[in-house]
Formats: sequence, structure tokens, C-alpha cells
Amino acid sequence: MTHDAASVRALLGEILAALASASESDETRSLRERLERFVAHSDDALTSAVLLEASAAPLGAMRVFPKEARGLVGAKANAIKQAALAALAEEEQAALARALAAERSHAGFDATLPPPRQACGSLHPITQVTRELEDLFTSMGWTILDGPEVETEHFNFDALNISPDHPARDTMDTFWVRTAPGDTRLVMRTHTSPVQVRAMRRLQPPFRAIVPGKVFRNEALDASHEHTFHQMEGLVVGQHVSVGHLIAAMKTLLRGIFGREIEIRLRPGYFPFVEPGFELDARCPFCTEGCSVCKRSTWIELLPCGMVHPNVLKAGGIDPEQWTGFAFGLGLSRLVMLRFGIDDVRHLLAGDVRFLEQF
Ligand code: DAH
Repeated sequence: MTHDAASVRALLGEILAALASASESDETRSLRERLERFVAHSDDALTSAVLLEASAAPLGAMRVFPKEARGLVGAKANAIKQAALAALAEEEQAALARALAAERSHAGFDATLPPPRQACGSLHPITQVTRELEDLFTSMGWTILDGPEVETEHFNFDALNISPDHPARDTMDTFWVRTAPGDTRLVMRTHTSPVQVRAMRRLQPPFRAIVPGKVFRNEALDASHEHTFHQMEGLVVGQHVSVGHLIAAMKTLLRGIFGREIEIRLRPGYFPFVEPGFELDARCPFCTEGCSVCKRSTWIELLPCGMVHPNVLKAGGIDPEQWTGFAFGLGLSRLVMLRFGIDDVRHLLAGDVRFLEQF
């Protein structure tokens, strides 16, 4: 501290002496008593804050001093004030230095406490499951393919053996893209199957590919119908590819998804682009006796599949006498719902952070 108690007391004494020559009034008495209290303070109590107050009192009551004493009183009070301000600044510096030293010494630092949490997002459940399946299939040597979401009528329907008057065109509730008359007719693809033919035209058989992606249908929306959802197409073309290969691939897929062996069954199913076509059911992974997920049947409808129709191979430029293949159409959105127990498909693309934060 730059002020010492004795010199400040001496200054206060001189102010008091100047006050003694003034005539006693209530005001001079109260000032005198206050100044005497400061003088009588024990050394320790003469803090900078107390001194600042002691200097303010005579400055504020200057007119009670005789005229000839005012210069002296002002100078003394200001000297006390300067000493107090300097001491305050010094104390502030010292406090800062102490805080810094404490921080640098790491005293009180607990390395076992978790660090402050970083705000970070998470992958969408559809992305999570897509990546898992991509890992699974690429580990078995399959390729991942992509195709356009705005597709030609040809690839979406014709090349898939869906004839112009075929009911499948209606049942698929297609969003048609407005084009000029005479131009190639375009649709928002209603399924990922058109990429089968695109793949055949690009790749030399034998090949194996999956096609995860978005598809679109003009449907009445409810808990299980959305205008935009995700599928994952699978296609294998090779020599002597049979239903046996299809079953083995589907069992591997289920093992990958659920982490254990899951019983499957095939029922006949009809799709123009496969022959024979099947509906593949999986034993309910959540129960043994029947539950709400499997609607008490212990089986869940997992995916449609089948042996690629010769007309589709031809549309892809592949000789059906030489090559055969199988295909499947996994409902990715539905699988994600099964996996995470999501009860309404509309949650998936609603973009509500309260929903997405849970994954
Ligand atoms: N593309 C069909 C749909 O969206 C699903 C499908 C059925 C795909 C059978 C296939 C398949 O590859 O073999 O309804």
C-alpha cells in the first residue's frame, strides 16, 4: 500500500485542527465526530475504501471550515484521496495476480471432471441404418450405386416389364413431372428398381449392387404412408444365380441387421420385373409368441424379391440365356422404424429436432 496509516492520521489531524477554529454547529460537530472515528480506527481497519470515505467527508462539507483554512483542508483531503485511489488500484492488481497465479498453479483443478459438453449433432436414423447396410454389403463385395430421383418413364416402368396399361402404374401413385408434349416423359421415381436396368447397362456381369435412395409416391398420408420415403434395391447378376443365392443373401442381411440368425419364409408375390416373385417374411425379432410389431403373427413382412425377369435383363442389354439374377426391394424407412421403434413414418422427414435428437 502506498499510504501508511500514521501519515494519513497526521493529515486527518490537520483537517481536524482547521475544523476546531470554526464555530461549533450540528454540521461541524457531526463532521468532527466522523473524522475522529477515522483517526481512532485501528491500523488494520484503515483500508483504502475507508480512506476514500474519510477524504470525501471534509471535501463535501468544505463550507463549514473557516475561509482561510479551506485551501489547506482541500489539499490534505485530496492527498488522502490520492493515496486511497493508488492503494485501491494496487489492491486490484494484486487480486488479479493472485487469481492468475491460482489458475496457473492448477490448484483446485480436477482432471477427472468431464469437460464441458460440446454441442454436436447426430446422424439421421436413416443415414445410420443406410451406412450399416452399406458396410455389410461392401464387406461382401457388393457395389453401392446411385440413380436419378427424377427418372424417365422408360426406366421407372417400361424397362421393368411394366406394360403401358399395367395396373402397377396406377397402384404406384406416381408424381408425373410436367414436360412439353412430345418430350421424354419424366416421373419422380416411385421405386429404386429403375437403377437395376441402369446398372445392367453400365456394368459387365457378373456384378452385385445395392441402391439406397429416396422414392416418391402421391399417396394419402398417414402413420405408415409418406410421399417421400427410402428404399434399398439389391441386384445380383451372374451365371447360375438361383433362389438359393437369394435366400442366403437375405439371411446374411438379417444377421447383419439383427445380429443373429433369423428364420425366414417365402410366399409367392407378384411384381412384373421378377419371375418368380416372392414376399419374404422374417420371424419377428422382438417376440416369440406374437406382439404388436408382428401383429400377433410372429412373422413380419420384410421385403419383396425375386428372380430378375428375362425381359428386364434384355432391357439392360444382358442375354437372359447366359445370365440370371435376383433382386430385392428393401423398405429402408420401414426397417428404420422397426429398428428404433418409431410408430409414424412422417416423423422421419419432418425435420423436428426434438425427434432427431433421440438418435
Ligand atoms: N420396386 C418394388 C416396389 O417399390 C419393390 C420390389 C419388389 C423390388 C420386388 C424388387 C423386387 O427388386 O424384386 O414396390
